[in-house]
Amino acid sequence: MSQKLYDRIDGYIEQLFVGDDPVLAATIAATHKAGMPDIQVSAVLGKFLYLQARAIGARRILELGTLAGYSTIWLARALPPGGTLVTLEYAAQHAGVARQSIAAAGFAERVEVVVGAASETLAQMIARADAPFDLVFIDADKDNYPAYLDLVLQLTRPGSLIIADNVVRGGDVLAPAADDAYSQGARAFNAKLAADPRVEAIVMQLVGAKHHDGFALARVK
Ligand code: SAH
Ligand code: DHB
Ligand code: MG
Repeated sequence: MSQKLYDRIDGYIEQLFVGDDPVLAATIAATHKAGMPDIQVSAVLGKFLYLQARAIGARRILELGTLAGYSTIWLARALPPGGTLVTLEYAAQHAGVARQSIAAAGFAERVEVVVGAASETLAQMIARADAPFDLVFIDADKDNYPAYLDLVLQLTRPGSLIIADNVVRGGDVLAPAADDAYSQGARAFNAKLAADPRVEAIVMQLVGAKHHDGFALARVK
């Protein structure tokens, strides 16, 4: 099958199950206007993240890698009254655009965007003994995914879900090039996740609007 067909089917699924969404469309427009990369999750994966959070009744959600807040808004929509989301972003510009989009979506009170390297922010959260998160979405720099796994496992509880984006990378994960730190990180992360006795996990590959990639889904034992 061709990429064109995958794209058409992604559009068909999006039209059926997501439909027009002015808030999310404005978030993507803000991403483009700010000259930021077009690397947010697809609408289909966004709805999937939302449904995972709803399915477990997540009240506390943690995200690594905010960009302009597109996936953040999908996840925030799953929160019950009183629920909160913390999202970690390295680039101050991205965080600024995200805060505007998150406020426009009505979540300024419930979403905190923390600027800094995720590994440092996570270490601070662990040192503070922050309450565990019910769902963690890992979508920041892929070379640090193995380290992020160890860190977020200290901020979860049995039954928490960990979802990590971009772990297939168009197949590059099978044999990462020497200069492709992101695919090497994804490969090391998948191997670590598969072997880690603290979780049970799987990787799902995806085709469609964001080409060929995939996500890992893990449940903390
Ligand atoms: N989750 C977003 C997309 C995130 S793109 C969505 O689907 O809408 C990856 C983001 O991770 C970028 O904004 C990038 O600036 C950020 N990032 C890169 N390195 C990081 C780090 N060390 N700590 C935190 N964020 C980082
Ligand atoms: C990149 C990051 C992502 O989170 C993504 O979904 C696609 C690409 C990247 O930085 O290359
Ligand atoms: Mg991603």
